[in-house]
Amino acid sequence: MSILSPAFYKQFIRPALFRQDPEQAHLLTHQLVAKCRPLWPMLSKSFVYTGSHLSCNLFGKSLHNPVGLAAGFDKNGDLAEFLNYLGFGFAEIGSVTAISKEGNPKPRLFRLERDGAVINRMGLNGEGADAIAAKLEHAKFGLPLGLNIAKTNDPNIVGDGAVKDILYTFDKIKSLPLTYVTINASCPNTKEGIVTEASHMRTVFTEVGKLNSGRLPILVKLSPDSSPELVAEMVEAASACGLSGFVCGNTSTGRENLSTDSAAITAIGLGGLSGKPLKNKALQLCRLVHSLKKSSQIIIGCGGIFSGQDAYQFISAGASFLQIYTGLVYEGPGLPLLINQELSAILHQNGQSLHEAIGAGQQVPA
Ligand SMILES: Cc1cc2nc3c(=O)[nH]c(=O)nc-3n(C[C@H](O)[C@H](O)[C@H](O)COP(=O)(O)O)c2cc1C
Repeated sequence: MSILSPAFYKQFIRPALFRQDPEQAHLLTHQLVAKCRPLWPMLSKSFVYTGSHLSCNLFGKSLHNPVGLAAGFDKNGDLAEFLNYLGFGFAEIGSVTAISKEGNPKPRLFRLERDGAVINRMGLNGEGADAIAAKLEHAKFGLPLGLNIAKTNDPNIVGDGAVKDILYTFDKIKSLPLTYVTINASCPNTKEGIVTEASHMRTVFTEVGKLNSGRLPILVKLSPDSSPELVAEMVEAASACGLSGFVCGNTSTGRENLSTDSAAITAIGLGGLSGKPLKNKALQLCRLVHSLKKSSQIIIGCGGIFSGQDAYQFISAGASFLQIYTGLVYEGPGLPLLINQELSAILHQNGQSLHEAIGAGQQVPA
C-alpha cells in the first residue's frame, strides 16, 4: 500500500483528521499543502495521471485531465501555485466577494460520515476581492484557474447594490490570468440564499458582459434545488447574455435519503449538503442543462464525485469537465488520480474517447 494511496489515507490519515473539528482539519490540510511546498514536485509523481487520452481543452487551455478542484476549498487563492501537483487538471478558487467577511458563526462545517457527506454553512468567509486580486497578481498558477465570484454576505446589500457588489469583484479580478470566471448564483448559506429570479441574474450577466473587455469566459453556478422552470430561465438568460457555460452544481438544502440519525441532522441545522447523497440531484441538473444549453456552452459537473464511475456518469449526462470537494475529505489527495485512472479504463472498455462520451447518456450502474 503506497503511503499516498487512498487506502493508506483511509486507514491511517483520515481517522486522525476525523478526530479533529472539521474546520480545524480543513485548516490543517490547507497549511500542510502550503508547507510541503518544496516536496510537491517529488510527491506529485504519486498523484499525477500521466496517460494522454484524458487530455482536453478548457477555453483554449490544455488540461492533462478533466478533474478540477471545486470552489470553496481554496477560497482565498492560497494554493494556486501547488494544485497541479495534486493531480488536478484545473481548479476554481473562491468564492471571492467584494468585502472581506468572516462568514457565519462556528461551528459551521459538519461531517456525515455514514453518508460520505458534509453539511456546511460557511457563509462566504474570505479575504475579499482587493486582497485576493493583489495576491494573485504575482502568483504563478500551476494549472488553469477559474475564479468564482459571489455577492458579499450582507443582507443589506440588495437590488442595484447587489449588482454593483458583484461588478466590483469582477472588475478587480478581470485582468488576472484566469481561464474563466464563475458567477455563484446558488449559495444556500447566506440570508439571500439561492437566486430565485432569473431576471436578477440577467441584469448581473449583462452588466458583467459590459465590463468584460478581456472577454473572459463566464460561467454561472446553478443550484440542484432549483425548479426545472427556474433552471430553464437561468439557462435562457445565460445563453442570451453570451455566457460560456454552467457549473452543475452547488450544495443542496435537501436532507433526503440520509443514513445519519435524523436527530443528529436536526441538531446540525441549516447548511448545504455535499458529497455522495448529492450526486443524483447534481446529475439531474446536468442532464437538464445539457438538454437546454447551446452546443458551444460547456458544463462542469460537480456533486458527490468519488470515483471514475461517478465521473463517467456526469460526462454521460453532458459534463465536459468535473469538480470535486467532499470526495477529497473522504478519499484523500489520491482521489484525482484514482478518478482519472478509473475513468480512462471505463472509456477504454466502452471504446469511447472522452469527447465522444460527453452527453452520450450511457448509464453506469451506481
Ligand atoms: C466547506 C465547503 C465550502 C464551500 N464553499 C463554496 C464557495 O465558496 N463557493 C461555491 O461556489 N461553492 C462552494 N462549495 C460547494 C462546492 O464547490 C461544490 O459545489 C459542492 O460541495 C458539491 O461538490 P462535492 O459533493 O464534490 O463536495 C463549498 C462546499 C463545501 C463542502
